[in-house]
Amino acid sequence: MQTNNIVVAYFSATGNTARVARRLSRAVNSDLFEIKPEKAYSMQDLDWTDPKSRCSQEHENKIPLPSLNEKLMNLAQYKAMFLGFPVWWYKQPPIISQFLKSHNLKHMVIIPFCTSGGTQMEEVQTALENEFPELDIRPGRLMNVTLPDEALEYWFSTLNIEPVKFSIVD
Ligand SMILES: Cc1cc2nc3c(=O)[nH]c(=O)nc-3n(C[C@H](O)[C@H](O)[C@H](O)COP(=O)(O)O)c2cc1C
Repeated sequence: MQTNNIVVAYFSATGNTARVARRLSRAVNSDLFEIKPEKAYSMQDLDWTDPKSRCSQEHENKIPLPSLNEKLMNLAQYKAMFLGFPVWWYKQPPIISQFLKSHNLKHMVIIPFCTSGGTQMEEVQTALENEFPELDIRPGRLMNVTLPDEALEYWFSTLNIEPVKFSIVD
């Protein structure tokens, strides 16, 4: 059941961001959309220590951005999008750039959330805002640890989004 004009859209290669996305979506009673590349990443593809791996080649623009498996439809119904992804090289993965380039999201606010091996949110937020200055991107959160409902509610209250009303339903 979708009631809030909110969508949680996320990419997750190894499951960490997916877990957070599902909880966030349940918490705010939103739609949930998984951003997937046409060709899934294998473990070998994800080897960031290998300059010849797919992720390294994409990162260095030696091969094009990955294609999307599926686009998000009926965008007009959404006022806000939580956009989740793992941090790759201190920024958003190439599939997230492809997703943002492939949809018209100018009418909604975008709130990033990430998981990482230690990189903090500020760096990622700056990279995203610099790459997509035309989008209304609000301050996001690193969600490596499970935030209690009170912390989620406080975060939502600071986002100052009208007319979206966040309410924790958990
Ligand atoms: C290609 C690649 C690059 C990464 N780069 C970073 C990084 O710059 N900083 C960091 O803290 N973690 C980095 N990580 C670790 C992931 O952000 C972390 O494991 C994340 O929780 C994975 O999320 P997922 O399970 O949803 O894919 C990287 C992982 C991969 C595969």
